Amino acid sequence: CPSDRVQNARFGACLMKEPDVVAAGVAAMRRAVDLPVTVKTRIGVDDRDSWDDFVRFIDTVAGGGCDTFIIHARKAWLQGLSPKENREIPPLSYETVYRLKQRYPEFSITINGGITSIDETVEHLEHVDGVMIGRAAYESPWLLAEIEQAVFGGNAPANREVVLDRYIDYIDREMAAGTPFYAMARHVLGLYQGERGARAWRRHISENRPRAGATGQILREAAENVLAVA
Ligand SMILES: Cc1cc2nc3c(=O)[nH]c(=O)nc-3n(C[C@H](O)[C@H](O)[C@H](O)COP(=O)(O)O)c2cc1C
Repeated sequence: CPSDRVQNARFGACLMKEPDVVAAGVAAMRRAVDLPVTVKTRIGVDDRDSWDDFVRFIDTVAGGGCDTFIIHARKAWLQGLSPKENREIPPLSYETVYRLKQRYPEFSITINGGITSIDETVEHLEHVDGVMIGRAAYESPWLLAEIEQAVFGGNAPANREVVLDRYIDYIDREMAAGTPFYAMARHVLGLYQGERGARAWRRHISENRPRAGATGQILREAAENVLAVA
């Protein structure tokens, strides 16, 4: 992350300029926990954006004990671009990530950045070990079910309503523990993205969320609206 807040606190993308600090962090985490310690990084930052800079960074961090990297396949500019622009303007270079995998076949390399479809996912998996999808999955969470089916070979929920039933159970449990309704409901606004009735779905949730006593039931009503439109 290249945001000002993150830079001021000396974490996020600016750490690409301090590979020794990252390596020491990885080593300290590995000593402290039994969980896998992974590093997510860009392919460069500011003027440190050559292949050699990138390899030096990966080498150093690997020295701290990391063998799993998630690579957002574009550089970041620490000044002049907002975090959002830094996710859009620097060009993607998937080739750089493929090249990294060729150089370090023993490492697990996951590619990230601008990937939005199953076809792209399958193509990337010819070159690297994993694919991370951020915004596309958030904007249209059903993509994850399609990937479950197409890439992992089954076990995806039969339809959106099955997911919804489970999510409503989750909302009910969490609300009992004090989590506000909309903090959870907003993450499924994209569930019907691309389907007939998507707008009716979003509108019902948005309009009813301030309602006193809003519960998971609102999602059920919204889904009925979708089915009525579809
Ligand atoms: C709202 C938002 C917040 C993000 N925060 C972080 C973060 O804290 N750390 C991080 O490594 N990446 C963060 N990212 C970047 C994503 O992890 C991902 O690298 C980026 O969105 C590119 O992948 P995509 O095109 O699939 O979304 C954030 C992205 C978004 C949209």
